[in-house]
Amino acid sequence: MSRETNLKSMFYTAYDASMIASFLARVATKREQERRAMSEFLGEGTHFQSFQMAATPISLAVNVAKNTFTQKGDAAIGRWKAAIELARSLENAELIPPMAVIFGSGLTAIVMPKGNNLSRAAEKTVPASLHDVAKALGQAGLILDDYPQVRELLGQPFIIDWSDLSFLRDSSAKSESTRSTSSSLLGIN
Ligand SMILES: Nc1ncnc2c1ncn2[C@@H]1O[C@H](COP(=O)(O)OP(=O)(O)OP(=O)(O)O)[C@@H](O)[C@H]1O
Ligand SMILES: [Mg+2]
Repeated sequence: MSRETNLKSMFYTAYDASMIASFLARVATKREQERRAMSEFLGEGTHFQSFQMAATPISLAVNVAKNTFTQKGDAAIGRWKAAIELARSLENAELIPPMAVIFGSGLTAIVMPKGNNLSRAAEKTVPASLHDVAKALGQAGLILDDYPQVRELLGQPFIIDWSDLSFLRDSSAKSESTRSTSSSLLGIN
C-alpha cells in the first residue's frame, strides 16, 4: 500500500462525524479569543484556528474558520467548499491530504490528519511534489494562492493550509507580488 493510500485509510478510520460535531458545538460556545485557551488548541493563522482531536489510529486537525474567513459570505464559502471537494477528488496529487469540510453549530471547519514537521527526507522531495500538485490543481481549474505550508504524517507529506484555494476563473490574485512569489515557490511561471 502506498503511503498516500495508507494515510487516507487511517484518516477515514479516525474520522468520526459525531465526535467532530460535538467538538464544534463546544467550540461554538466560546469566542475566538477564548478558544486559544482550550487544551486542544494547536495554532492559528489569519483565517483559521486549528485544534487537535485525539482519535485512533491517528490524531486529526480540526481547523475552524475565523470571522475573517466567514465574513466573505455564504456564496464565497460555498465556492471554496466546492473547490476543496474538487481538490480532494484529484488522484496522483500526493500533497493533498484526505480532508472533510463541515458546517456545524454555525461554524465552518476543515478536518484533516494532524501532521508533524517535515523529516529531512521529505524536505528533499517536497519541492518537486509542490510542482506536481500545482500542475494537478491547475489542470482541474484550481489555484492555491498562498505559500504552501507542508507537514508530514506516516512518511507522507501534505499541505495543511487550504484557506486560499479557489477556482482559477474566480481568482483575484491577492497581489501580483504574492502571486509571482508563490508561483515561483511552486515552480510554475
Ligand atoms: N493538519 C495540521 N497539522 C498540524 N498543524 C496544523 C494543521 N492544520 C493547521 N495546523 C496549525 O494551525 C496553524 C494555522 O492553520 P492554517 O495555516 O491552515 O490557518 P490560516 O489561517 O489559513 O493561516 P495563514 O494566515 O497562514 O493563511 C498552522 O500554522 C499550524 O500550526
Ligand atoms: Mg491560509
